[in-house]
Formats: sequence, C-alpha cells, structure tokens
Amino acid sequence: MSEHDLGYLLENNRAWAESKLRADRHFFARLCKVQNPDYLWIGCSDSRVPANEIVGLQPGEMFVHRNIANVVPHSDLNCLAVIQFAVEVLGVRHIIVVGHYGCGGIKAAMENRDHGQIENWLTHIKDVYCRHYETITAIADPEARANRLCELNVATQVRNVAKTSIVQNAWRNGRTLRIHGWIYSLEDGILHDLGVGIGSAGELHQVYRIFDETGE
Ligand code: CO
Repeated sequence: MSEHDLGYLLENNRAWAESKLRADRHFFARLCKVQNPDYLWIGCSDSRVPANEIVGLQPGEMFVHRNIANVVPHSDLNCLAVIQFAVEVLGVRHIIVVGHYGCGGIKAAMENRDHGQIENWLTHIKDVYCRHYETITAIADPEARANRLCELNVATQVRNVAKTSIVQNAWRNGRTLRIHGWIYSLEDGILHDLGVGIGSAGELHQVYRIFDETGE
C-alpha cells in the first residue's frame, strides 16, 4: 500500500460501522431520522483533543465546532452560524468552551514572530494576553505562563458566547442555557471545569446586555 492510499481509513470505517450495527442494529436508522444533542462543544482543532471521544459521547449526542485555540470572535459568521443552529434549531442546553494545556495556537500567540496569515487569527488571543499581561508575565515558568493564558482564553471565549445576540435572546425567552469553560490536559486526558461558567444575561457587564432588566 502506498503512502497516498487511504484505503486503510475506509477499511477502518467499515469495521467501525459493522461494530456499531453489531451492538445495535438500528443505530444508523435511528440517527438518520433525527439528531438531538444536548451539548454544543467549542474546542481546539488539535488532533489530540477529539471532542466526542474524551467525554464518551456517541454520534448524535454532541454538536461540535472546532478551530485553532477555541476562539469565539464577535463577528465570525462560521462560529455564529454554529451557535445559532445549536441553540435555536437543536435546542442545546449547554455550550462548552474547551481549551487545552499545551495549545500550539496559544503558544504561537505569545511569540513576537510572523507565523503568516494565522497571525490575524492569533490576534484574538493576543488581545486576551494583553488584557492579562501583568498576571501572566508574573509567572516565572514559560510553560505555566502559556497554560495560564490557555485558561484565561477559555474564560474570555465563554463570555464571548454569552455576549452573542443568539444566547441573550435565548435567555430573554426563558430558555435554560448554560455556557461552561473547561480545560483538557494532554498529559493525563482529564478535563477540568474552570468555574467560569455563565447562565444568565445578568452576569454580563451591562455594556454588553442587549435587553434591560425588564426584558425590553
Ligand atoms: Co490547541
């Protein structure tokens, strides 16, 4: 088999599909009809952080958006489309922003070096770095410094999700919807809740609220 031949992936796929059917012969028939996930996962594209797998969820159980360093820019149409579909059509009850320690995107954002076009994406992370510059640079160990930025980035992106008109409208309409901030450790495969979650518009700075307290 040549290195250009991806036949083994297709073989893996057949074996996987067969194993699913062996365990539950209606597995695919059921998935064809409806997807009904409770969760939207917004994570890093990093190949070592496979969303469904690390939380033990099956196809159909989690809607997933991944990009470099799990960023939620205010006007990213791709990310906003995913959030809108997840909240308004699928009716997810939880949005989980998941960062990971050792994130290459975060490390690159901390360097004073031109990595090419990606710099324009990394600027979103540089904004977080700049806002917390004193806190982060007070940490002596470079790896610990980058890991702290991984955590602060998650906290920022959790709030960015909450600031969207989509999420604020869901809350205004009385929907139960909570945004969570988690971080994954590549070293032991364990996820940690950073305790930066948000579940109502009242937890946002008033500047960002698009409705006043009476819901107007
Ligand atoms: Co990453």
